[in-house]
Amino acid sequence: MRAAVYRRFGGPETVHIEQIAKPSPRRDEILIKVQASTVSAADHRSRGRDVPRGLGALAALSIGIFRPRKRILGMDVAGIVEAVGVDVTGFVPGDEVIAMLGARFGGHAEYVCVPQGGAIAAKPRNLGFEEAVTLVFGGITARGFLNQVTVTAGSRVLVNGASGAVGTAAVQLAKQLGAHVTAVCSGTNSDLVTSLGADRVIDYTLDDFTADRATYDVIVDCVGNAPFERVEASLNPGGALLLVISDLAGILRASRQSRVSGRLVSASVGKYRSEDLAHLVALAEAGRYRPVIDRVYALSDVVEAHRHVDAGHKIGNVVLRIEAGAGSHAALARESATPSPV
Ligand SMILES: NC(=O)c1ccc[n+]([C@@H]2O[C@H](COP(=O)([O-])OP(=O)(O)OC[C@H]3O[C@@H](n4cnc5c(N)ncnc54)[C@H](OP(=O)(O)O)[C@@H]3O)[C@@H](O)[C@H]2O)c1
Repeated sequence: MRAAVYRRFGGPETVHIEQIAKPSPRRDEILIKVQASTVSAADHRSRGRDVPRGLGALAALSIGIFRPRKRILGMDVAGIVEAVGVDVTGFVPGDEVIAMLGARFGGHAEYVCVPQGGAIAAKPRNLGFEEAVTLVFGGITARGFLNQVTVTAGSRVLVNGASGAVGTAAVQLAKQLGAHVTAVCSGTNSDLVTSLGADRVIDYTLDDFTADRATYDVIVDCVGNAPFERVEASLNPGGALLLVISDLAGILRASRQSRVSGRLVSASVGKYRSEDLAHLVALAEAGRYRPVIDRVYALSDVVEAHRHVDAGHKIGNVVLRIEAGAGSHAALARESATPSPV
């Protein structure tokens, strides 16, 4: 099978297409013929060993010390079940699914195996594979963090980094729960986040969201520049700071800050769960969750896809189209800064 492989850490050019052995499912595994994946911030971080301050040693245990432990990137997939192990009961060949591979990676390939106990769910019937895969990485992360707090009608939620994969999901999920949502992003993405449900937009290139007197019940930081010390005065009593990304110091201080302040400070997404994917699928099928696609690249153009993600300003998701047996072509890449209609 064809796969995008990287055998050393470095820039986008370390990734190249190789022919490698097609995996076989174990007893409890589902073999998926991948139709789409995304190039995510996690792929960028793993490939370039670009991790927040203090986390280098810890991250090396997972991504590798001298060379990558997982040679195929890609944390998410949308595809078709090709075969199942003898113990698998919930899926049969031909099922259309989405799945979060998480730290196992492996989505940038024509086939991947997923354990049946992993985060896997039926693909939304109303979405194509390229749209459906955008629910996974950002959606399951945003949902995993929001599950830790109570958001009800009128809750004030601020999403910092609202235009990225996690941010666009967090804005939509908080809105679904009835929150008043403030989105922090650059001005060019203001219309996008408003269309996803943001009630107020703060352009971070002009204004500091901690400098006005507004306070929030929940702050979701998808940028890594909103540690508790910076946002404490912007958090209501009993509120929560969800650190989707944080340096080591922020992670280590979180539980003490929670105890002392009476506000939840969480830097953990928790376990990736199929229930959370199923929730996103149900929302998408009801037309209440919109995929946000920045660009779509063919697998053969994976280096270009990485270059775009490395620039740090992608909008929502960068999708890899993976077609078994497809040749090399560059024409697929398309620019579309607006969310795809559902
Ligand atoms: N804890 C976890 O389990 C977990 C899971 C997934 C991701 N993450 C991490 O969470 C972070 C976000 O992931 P992602 O996939 O959403 O990344 P992303 O798609 O690359 O989005 C990041 C967004 O942040 C915006 N941004 C940059 N600087 C900003 C600033 N100063 N203020 C506000 N917005 C700013 C950028 O938009 P502009 O173009 O407007 O600058 C960009 O769209 C990454 O660091 C990722 O590694 C953690």
